[in-house]
Amino acid sequence: MKDLNIGLIGYGFMGRAHSNAYKRVNDFFSLPYRPVLKAVSGRDAANVEAFARNWRYESVETDWRKLIAREDIDAVDICTPNNLHKDIAIAAAKAGKMVLCEKPLSMNVEEGREMVKAVESAGVPNMVWYNYRRAPAVTLAKRLIDEGRLGRIFHYRAKFLQDWTINAELPQGGAALWRLDAAAAGSGVTGDLLAHCIDTALWLNGPIDSVAGMTETFVKQRKHNLTGKVEKVGIDDACAFLARFHNGSLATFESTRYARGHKALYTFEINGENASIFWDLHDLHRLQWFDYKDESALRGWRSIHVSEGEHPYIKNWWVPGLQLGYEHTFVHQVADFLEGLATGKPAGPTFKEALETTAVCDAVLKSAGTGCFEKVPKV
Ligand SMILES: NC(=O)c1ccc[n+]([C@@H]2O[C@H](COP(=O)([O-])OP(=O)(O)OC[C@H]3O[C@@H](n4cnc5c(N)ncnc54)[C@H](O)[C@@H]3O)[C@@H](O)[C@H]2O)c1
Repeated sequence: MKDLNIGLIGYGFMGRAHSNAYKRVNDFFSLPYRPVLKAVSGRDAANVEAFARNWRYESVETDWRKLIAREDIDAVDICTPNNLHKDIAIAAAKAGKMVLCEKPLSMNVEEGREMVKAVESAGVPNMVWYNYRRAPAVTLAKRLIDEGRLGRIFHYRAKFLQDWTINAELPQGGAALWRLDAAAAGSGVTGDLLAHCIDTALWLNGPIDSVAGMTETFVKQRKHNLTGKVEKVGIDDACAFLARFHNGSLATFESTRYARGHKALYTFEINGENASIFWDLHDLHRLQWFDYKDESALRGWRSIHVSEGEHPYIKNWWVPGLQLGYEHTFVHQVADFLEGLATGKPAGPTFKEALETTAVCDAVLKSAGTGCFEKVPKV
């Protein structure tokens, strides 16, 4: 087993989720590589040192450029706000490092194209953390669709609902609240939440050709944490769009941070000629399945508890009936990335694949402005 020295940049929510995955993965998966928590980078020396002590990183850097310049780093993991993804990823690729980047890949398609070019010309392994693909129930959905069990697909329906920005006094900008600041986030729920729904949809149901979207910013001005001034809010608080998939199926997507009572209600439903599938992040270890081939007297929605050895990833964990959670999706993604290094078959989504999600997001936002259906640009 070879060591793979990780350099983590950003140590907030995702910094913790990824660090946990690097630490656990070799305990449960037999792999050709072992991630080593070599260095973590953040701007505040005291905070980054506290993080390094807690998670047992060997060293710290207060400038991400120094981390990238180090010879003892093999892979750079980008866990910063979205506006930093491009510069860090391009610098890391130029330095010959593998690059793992949080989603969304970039602020827009133009930036994303530059990032794809950088990793492809450097020939470095790369991946974007669209982790919901690796919830075992979602991976099982992919298997069922690829086996042709749904037949022709007619409908795809996804939503991602939250309620944490309803308070008009909530400021924008700075730690955690960078998501409300368009300069740091690029967009609001479209790049943050719908990007997850779109990645899963493209993976399960193929490319999207065109979209028609609408967005709204319910709170127009918020105090900015960095300037102290009340500033215009540039992000979309809510977004809903229609989509046509290349395979002829029709779709609706919806996301908001103003759905009182919902914290992270990501659901999708797919209706095919033979069967339907439904998944809910709040119940992420279950896959709902309706099969028209069942005997009519007993036909109905089944709730499959995805915890059997033959279900994706499960044999590496516990015995049937015991469920996995959110953090396991990241462990699975690291396992697949490390396996991909050895087999030469990269774990998806690569930067190139993740750029397709950004292209859909861009088309949705464009359409919200023009009021027309917009074609998704080719990437
Ligand atoms: N895959 C998922 O499910 C998922 C979930 C949440 C967030 N994300 C993505 O992960 C990324 C980080 O989000 P988060 O929730 O961890 O945010 P966070 O606010 O919790 O953490 C961001 C980190 O970046 C650091 N940072 C900010 N500006 C920096 C700079 N100029 N230089 C160096 N470090 C800087 C902050 O200090 C902090 O450590 C975002 O791109 C977000 O979209 C993905």
